Amino acid sequence: MDNQKRSSRRGFIKKLTGTALGAAVGANVLGGSHKIELLNPTKHQHRIFGPNDQVNVAIIGMGIMGFDNAFWTLKVPGVKLVAVCDLYSGRLERAKEVYGKELFVTKNYKEILDRKDIDAVIIATSDHWHDRISIDAMNKGKHVYCEKPMVHRLDEGAEVIATQKKTGKVFIVGSQRVSSIVTQKTKEIFEAKTIGDLIMVETWMDRHSANGAWQYSIPTDANTNTVDWDNFLGDAPKRPYDPVRFFRWRNYQDYGTGVAGDLFVHLFSALHAVTSSKGPDRILATGGLRYWKDGRDVPDVIMGLYDYPETKQHPAFNLQMRVNFVDGSEGGEGLRLIGTDGVIDFGWDSVKVKHNKIHNEPGYGGWDSFDTFTAAQQKEYEKWYKAKYPTRASVMSDSDLEYKAPEEYSANLDHHVNFYKGIREKTPIVEDALFGMRAAGPALATNKSYYDNAIIKWNPETAQLS
Ligand SMILES: NC(=O)c1ccc[n+]([C@@H]2O[C@H](COP(=O)([O-])OP(=O)(O)OC[C@H]3O[C@@H](n4cnc5c(N)ncnc54)[C@H](O)[C@@H]3O)[C@@H](O)[C@H]2O)c1
Repeated sequence: MDNQKRSSRRGFIKKLTGTALGAAVGANVLGGSHKIELLNPTKHQHRIFGPNDQVNVAIIGMGIMGFDNAFWTLKVPGVKLVAVCDLYSGRLERAKEVYGKELFVTKNYKEILDRKDIDAVIIATSDHWHDRISIDAMNKGKHVYCEKPMVHRLDEGAEVIATQKKTGKVFIVGSQRVSSIVTQKTKEIFEAKTIGDLIMVETWMDRHSANGAWQYSIPTDANTNTVDWDNFLGDAPKRPYDPVRFFRWRNYQDYGTGVAGDLFVHLFSALHAVTSSKGPDRILATGGLRYWKDGRDVPDVIMGLYDYPETKQHPAFNLQMRVNFVDGSEGGEGLRLIGTDGVIDFGWDSVKVKHNKIHNEPGYGGWDSFDTFTAAQQKEYEKWYKAKYPTRASVMSDSDLEYKAPEEYSANLDHHVNFYKGIREKTPIVEDALFGMRAAGPALATNKSYYDNAIIKWNPETAQLS
C-alpha cells in the first residue's frame, strides 16, 4: 500500500508565507516557515542465524497479498519460506516458479498446520477464512501473521482473542502502517499536544479505476479442476462454482467485508496507533452502489461517522471516514487530525503538522457587527478595545513542519520485523488480536449500520457490540 513516489530531498526548504489579515484587526500574524525533515529509518540488527534459530514460515493464501508478504517477510534475516497453501493451482505453480521447486505446496491448509517444522504462518486468504485458520494455527502451536481485517464477522473476534491468550502464541494483524516510522513520528507529535486538544478527525481513501474498485484479473485457465471451490466456500453459503466470486471475492459479503473492512480498517489501525484510542462507541454509516454494478453486493461509496469517547489519552472527538470508488476528482487519500491549535496531515509516507492557535484577542471588523455600529459607537468601541488589548501579541499561525520517510523505506518490512521480534525476543506486539479487533470492529459495525440502517453502539474496551 505504501508505494507512492516520495521526494528523497534531504535537508529542508524554507519558505516564507505572508498571511493576509483582510480588514480584520486582531493579533499580528507572522509569516511561518515550511520545513521538511527526513525521518531516520528503523535500524535493524543483521546477525547471522543458524538453522536452529531460523524461523520456518508458511503462507496460507498465496494471492496478491500472499506474494507481497512473502517478499517482505523474506527480507527479515533468519526467515525461510518452506510451504505455501492456496486454492488455485496457478498460484501454487507461480510460488514454485518464484521460490523454487523444493517449496512444499498444498490446497489443504491443515497439511501445513500438521507439519512440525513450521513455526509461523502468514494468513492472506479472503477475509472469511481469517478467524478459522488463525484459531486452528495457534491451537497447533504456530505463530500467526494474519492479514487485516482480523475477522469477517463481528462475533468472530472474541474467539481469536481468547485463543491468542490461551496459547500465548505471537499474533499480529497485517495493517503494516501501525509499525511505520511515520506513525511513530505522528504519535510523538500528537502526544506533545502540538495541535492542542483533538476535536475531529477526517479521513478518506478514494479511487477511480476498475482495479481500484476490485475488478482484479481472472486467469483464463480457472475452472473446477484448477480451483478448489468447495474448500473456498468454507462457512459461506453453498453455491455453484463462480470464478468471479473466487477471484473478486471482495465484492461479495459472503467472503469479504466491503470497503469498510478492506480500507477503513487501515485508517482505524493508524488512528488508534497514534492516539492510543481503543475505538468509537457510536457508529453511523451511509452510502450506496453508484457505479460498479457488476453483480457485487457491497456499496462502492460509503461514509461513516464515529463518536470517540474521552479517555486518559485524548478528549472526546468525532471521526468522519469516507471511501468513494467513483471519484472523478482522480482519487486520493488523507487522514487529518484537527485540534484546537492546529492540524496533523498524516500520510503513509509523510506527516505534516501545522500550528494554528486561536488567539485570546478576538479582533474586530471584517465579517463582524462592528460596521453596523454608529460612527460614534465605532470610535468608542475602538477606544475600549485598545484599552482592553493594549499590545497586540504576535503569533506564528502557519509554521509548518513535514517529516518524510526516506524513499526506500517500507512499513511492510518493519511490520514483518516486529512479528519475528515478537517470536524471537518476546517483544510485545502492538497490533495484537485485541488491537486488531478494536480496528476491525468499528469497520464491520460500519457495514452493519449501512445494511441495518441503524446507529450501532460499540464497546471499545471489550471490542464487542454493546
Ligand atoms: N495489508 C495490506 O495492505 C493488504 C493489501 C491487500 C490485501 N490485504 C488483505 O489480504 C488478504 C488477501 O487479499 P488479496 O488481495 O491477496 O486476495 P487474493 O484473492 O489475491 O488472494 C487470496 C488467496 O487466498 C486463497 N484462499 C482463499 N481461501 C483459502 C483457504 N481456505 N486456504 C488456502 N487458500 C485460500 C485464494 O485461493 C486466493 O489465491 C485479504 O484479507 C485482504 O484484506 C491486505
